[in-house]
Amino acid sequence: MTKQNEIVGWNDYTRSYGGREIRTINPTIQSGSTVLFENFEDMKLALEGDYPGVDYGTHGLSTQKAFEEAICKLENGYKSYAFPSGISAITNTLMAFTQSGDEILLCDNAYGPTGRFCHKILEKYNVKTTHIESSIGSEISKYINENTKLIFLESPGSNTFEIQDIAAIVKVAKKAGIMIIMDSTWATPLFLKPLDHGIDIAIQSVTKYISGYSDILMGCATVNEKYADQFADYFNTVENYTNPQDCYVALRGLRSLKVRLEAHQKSAYEVARWLEVQDIVDSVIHPGLESHPQHSLWKRDFSGASGLFSFTFKKAYSTEQIGLFVNSLEMFALGFSWGGYKSLLTARTYKRDGKWVHDGKHLIRLSIGLEDSQQLIADLKQGFSVLD
Ligand SMILES: Cc1ncc(COP(=O)(O)O)c(C=O)c1O
Repeated sequence: MTKQNEIVGWNDYTRSYGGREIRTINPTIQSGSTVLFENFEDMKLALEGDYPGVDYGTHGLSTQKAFEEAICKLENGYKSYAFPSGISAITNTLMAFTQSGDEILLCDNAYGPTGRFCHKILEKYNVKTTHIESSIGSEISKYINENTKLIFLESPGSNTFEIQDIAAIVKVAKKAGIMIIMDSTWATPLFLKPLDHGIDIAIQSVTKYISGYSDILMGCATVNEKYADQFADYFNTVENYTNPQDCYVALRGLRSLKVRLEAHQKSAYEVARWLEVQDIVDSVIHPGLESHPQHSLWKRDFSGASGLFSFTFKKAYSTEQIGLFVNSLEMFALGFSWGGYKSLLTARTYKRDGKWVHDGKHLIRLSIGLEDSQQLIADLKQGFSVLD
């Protein structure tokens, strides 16, 4: 840049020093609203909507693109988009592909706010949502009518861990020309690549394992070639913006996802297998255990298990007794979300498909972090001693 404004200055953003280019392994955090055009002709292209590059900050700068390209590769997708949270990725994807008169089939074990958005917001625009069984397969055909626009799956569900038969659903959906979106946060792209199985859009709450430290909120959606233009059109119209600092953190998380996930998986299996043989415990609800009702489906489609699962007690303890147990724990922090280095716990009852899950008993959901699994087990053991 040659022009200088004496009052505010005008920095020429340089990437070299001492005559040498400054290069780093990781992308720079590029932040900005205005993107400078090289010349008038480029600006004209942008005004006409034909500029091949990024013409404004809301479309995402190089840091956002670095994350999106990396996750897209991992998902075997056509294009990925970053969103400021997982729920934002979900709601925007649903908005992108529905219009008045459409009907959505939503699996009953989907993340609560996904259903809430469908009913509270989409219904205002005359988009109807029908709940389908959490462990649905080819029976999905009975729900399909001429208005059915898309199927939204979450497998396993992040509280109750039912698995859907992806192959059977894809077969029905393809025949009927209906798109399938899947929230695949539990597995991450390392343990399941939904697009390889015929799903059209894979969604991740990056907040969880991908970022890994419970220090950011972020989401992403990866689309296949078939629906890429429609998604691009929506994304460029709403100008959704995810800040570059979070994309940087998410990209850094992606680099260590494999080793972290293996550690989460190993510890979670150790805790789950220990729980399975405790007298006080009734069911351990972990898709990777042989006792899980859809274990064979999980084995067919998934290449690993993350660190989130639930268990129930044999006795139907009162809420107060559950509170005593939970409050006695020292290793498990109480809080929403999951997938970080710190072990977390939630405890509540659930209804699925119109029925109480596990007779209305509390499901104790554990997000196994990166602590020593033996210490986690010892903590649960002392916690059990306050019951009975
Ligand atoms: C399965 C699942 N999907 C999506 C989300 C939403 O993610 P975020 O917290 O990033 O909005 C959550 C959050 O807990 C979740 O459990």
